[in-house]
Amino acid sequence: MSDYVLAIDQGTTSSRAIIFDHSGSIISTGQLEHEQIFPRAGWVEHDPMEIWANTREAIGQALSKANLTRHDIAAIGITNQRETAVVWNKNTGKPVYNAIVWQDTRTQDIVDALSVAGGVNRFKERVGLPLATYFSGTKIVWILDNVDGAREAAEAGDLLFGTTDTWVLWNLTGGVNGGVHATDVTNASRTMFMDLKTLQWDEEILGIFGVPKSMLPEIKSSSEVYGVAEEQSLLRETPIAGILGDQQAATFGQAAFATGEAKNTYGTGNFLIFNTGEDIVQSQNGLLTTVGYKLGDEPAHYALEGSIAVSGSLVQWLRDNLGLISSAAEVQDLADKVEDNGGAYIVPAFSGLFAPYWRPDARGAIVGLTRYVNKHHIARAALESIAYQTRDVLEAVNADAGVDLTELRVDGGATANDTLLQFQADILNVPVVRPVVAETTALGAAYAAGLAVGFWKSLDELSANWQEDKRWEAQMGEHERERLYRNWKKAVSKTLDWVD
Ligand code: G3P
Repeated sequence: MSDYVLAIDQGTTSSRAIIFDHSGSIISTGQLEHEQIFPRAGWVEHDPMEIWANTREAIGQALSKANLTRHDIAAIGITNQRETAVVWNKNTGKPVYNAIVWQDTRTQDIVDALSVAGGVNRFKERVGLPLATYFSGTKIVWILDNVDGAREAAEAGDLLFGTTDTWVLWNLTGGVNGGVHATDVTNASRTMFMDLKTLQWDEEILGIFGVPKSMLPEIKSSSEVYGVAEEQSLLRETPIAGILGDQQAATFGQAAFATGEAKNTYGTGNFLIFNTGEDIVQSQNGLLTTVGYKLGDEPAHYALEGSIAVSGSLVQWLRDNLGLISSAAEVQDLADKVEDNGGAYIVPAFSGLFAPYWRPDARGAIVGLTRYVNKHHIARAALESIAYQTRDVLEAVNADAGVDLTELRVDGGATANDTLLQFQADILNVPVVRPVVAETTALGAAYAAGLAVGFWKSLDELSANWQEDKRWEAQMGEHERERLYRNWKKAVSKTLDWVD
């Protein structure tokens, strides 16, 4: 048996390939960033051809760095930025439009039109999601309505839709030469089209949206063999055996398999996922209901999710749009030069506000400015905004669950930032715990693939791999904690009703 599993992590800013060994340790990594395309305010696109080329190259990098070949790889797992919509022609393999990214808000008019009858929660009971620009469904509608000839081609059965897991899977398994057109339940649960109970596409909702079912991938479990890599691939004949949306993958990689366990991932956005086991729990507090994972024929596990659109991407904005720092890691040095935020708060409502507010009309703001505030305070306020938003979401989770979470498992790039995680523990008044392998997203996809081919035998084996690296305990006094959080709430209130 081969000794390794390779995970492809097709994320919002980059595509990576990571090779893991049996203990869940990283052996090597390949990574390429892709262009973020902002054609207009509120629009965010990626080039799917660039993403696929980068994915192939990342696989090559990871294999060659570790001096491995396909014979060393037991299985491939795929994890991905969710909701980002690609529509392509199945005969040419070419996208008909750029991928419309999950952060994109161009479909607000479509959301508004669909909400006239029944409001934004019209389909929530069935699909777990409110009508919002975030999810893939309205992005597909936009492409069909706005790209010349797209609707006719879709109705003729020539167009395929996929989130980026599906795009990578289809290409990796041969593309126009018989590529597999499938997705897993976790990605399907982010479209607005999958019934959470039946785990099938809901024909009535598809009809209301006007999306032909023939475009949609087949919904499969998160852990099974979907196909093998095609002849031209460095990984030819290797089974692709796991797919999980990136936030669900991180939950799986954190070994949060039991009901009541949760994790928070710090990426371009922040996503807190709370495992509700086999129960579909409807949130009363602005959280999404989503599928956590489904292993082969076993029943699906569900989750509540608090999605925060902008966290790490605020740091990128400080770097790219303001030129305040030259690398994302520098934000900590800048923030550490001051004791506090100097009274400044940043609410990064670049895509409106997601959970728990769901306010598409919000736009970002920096408030509390005085002549005293300097760039150090701004850096600190940026980091703090990530922690405050997480508290907003954790309060919703606690209210829905009826019990308070006693610790928070964290992962993702920004968890290298000590200042952020200490402040996170302080503002939550809950210990924050980071595992040794903080690349839990890729690890989760590797686990799903490895389980399907017998590389790993059981969830217990995966849980045994989880090891604590570092823990941050709250040190802040209650009075200060609540003062800061009160001010944050005030800052949020200033951002609402901005867009008519
Ligand atoms: O829902 C969007 C999420 O899947 C994106 O994650 O890690 O690429 O920011 P990330």
